[in-house]
Amino acid sequence: MGADTLSVTDNRTGQAYEIPIAEGSIRAIELRQITVDDDDFGLMSHDPAYLNTASARSSITFIDGERGILRYRGYPIEQLAEQSTYLETAYLLLFGELPTGDALDGWVDEITHHTFVHENVKSLMEAFRYDTHPMGMLISAVAALSTFYPEAALVDEPANRLLQAKRLIAKVPTLAAWAYRHSRGLPYVYPDNDLGFTGNFLSMMFRMAEPRYVPDPVLERALEVLFVLHADHEQNCSASVMRSIGSSKADPYSALAGAAAALSGPLHGGANEAVLSMLTTIGDVRKVPAYVERVKAGELRLMGFGHRVYKNYDPRARIIKETADAVFEVTGRNPLLDVALELEKIALEDEYFVSRKLYPNVDFYSGLIYEALGLPTAMFPVMFAIPRTAGWLAQWLEGVVDPEQKIARPRQLYVGADERDYVPVEDRVSRELVAV
Ligand code: CMC
Repeated sequence: MGADTLSVTDNRTGQAYEIPIAEGSIRAIELRQITVDDDDFGLMSHDPAYLNTASARSSITFIDGERGILRYRGYPIEQLAEQSTYLETAYLLLFGELPTGDALDGWVDEITHHTFVHENVKSLMEAFRYDTHPMGMLISAVAALSTFYPEAALVDEPANRLLQAKRLIAKVPTLAAWAYRHSRGLPYVYPDNDLGFTGNFLSMMFRMAEPRYVPDPVLERALEVLFVLHADHEQNCSASVMRSIGSSKADPYSALAGAAAALSGPLHGGANEAVLSMLTTIGDVRKVPAYVERVKAGELRLMGFGHRVYKNYDPRARIIKETADAVFEVTGRNPLLDVALELEKIALEDEYFVSRKLYPNVDFYSGLIYEALGLPTAMFPVMFAIPRTAGWLAQWLEGVVDPEQKIARPRQLYVGADERDYVPVEDRVSRELVAV
């Protein structure tokens, strides 16, 4: 075994370089020393979409995509989904260790007592149009929270950071439930501090005239499992946004609103919504083969399939499938389940999907559960954002205290026009332009 270095010869100059290798990576900044002359800026790495760039050293979440492994702070996701609760998992993500009994009681108590939001937030949410997408409402309401807590801007104070983190974990479900109630034209329901985290959420979503909402224990537990599974997923698109915004020392409400916006896209947290529309469009098991053919022809993507990291299976998808069965026992079987099962069966046997290592991801079955709970598809990404709040905050906290981190500022390879003189409007030639 040689030294932990990478020997590089620049064939433009014949110059050789030794670049240190640590933790399976080289520091991209080491490439800067590779120049052709004194005017040269130095070599850069070009990595659109960060396919092979580690943006942080992190000790929060471990993923081995080839082997289908996901662990939070070292604990396998399967064990957490089975034995933990969302708030305990959130504590684990933020503090790095499972809480003792007393610490857990204190943590749950604190989160529970931060679930209310200022009445003005309610007025703000009421101002949205009746048909507003709930994700847009959630993003806006989270951003607005920063104006209620101006001290959140003091991101260099540890106690202040933690206080905002607790507020966010506690208040995001309230905002999420109110966004749903708004879409239904129903009065907003205040938090019930005698219920657990998911029980209270179900109450804020579904309570009607009854004096006290009693959540179904199976649904309450199913939501806990879904929330644990969605709590973090290392440096995904929205977590990177959270860290990037955080790197400018913006307050965590603004950063989290940005992360939620990133999550809303159909290739990220919006995928569960897209899965349901896809299953609804297919509508019938007999139409599945024709749909799969269109996917193979490149006309469509099979939503809820494929993952940038998991190339074997998504361990969360397996647990969600089991959770779906438990939920359907209570709510009745979702007729689209048959379409989903047929789609999964055909795709898993088909060479197109096998050779590209495309397997069901976390979003393939979660949408069916949300639909069984009576939620409109527009609420699905909101249901993802609630638990991911803990992960975003853990990523943000780790980023802000990391002495290596600076304001995120990628480089670019400029490929545009060379310097040219301004052309007066009367001299310009008319041509078809495409916004790029
Ligand atoms: N259906 C059909 N073909 C696919 C799919 C799909 N869902 N996903 C990837 N491919 C094909 C793709 O066309 C490409 O084929 P080829 O090599 O012939 O060009 C190959 O597989 C590799 O795909 P890729 O686009 O390079 O993969 P990626 O790592 O950039 O994309 C992904 C990952 C999740 C964006 C993508 O698989 C996708 O669009 N899936 C559907 C949307 C989805 O379910 N997203 C939820 C992700 S999990 C939850 C989350 O993290 O938010």
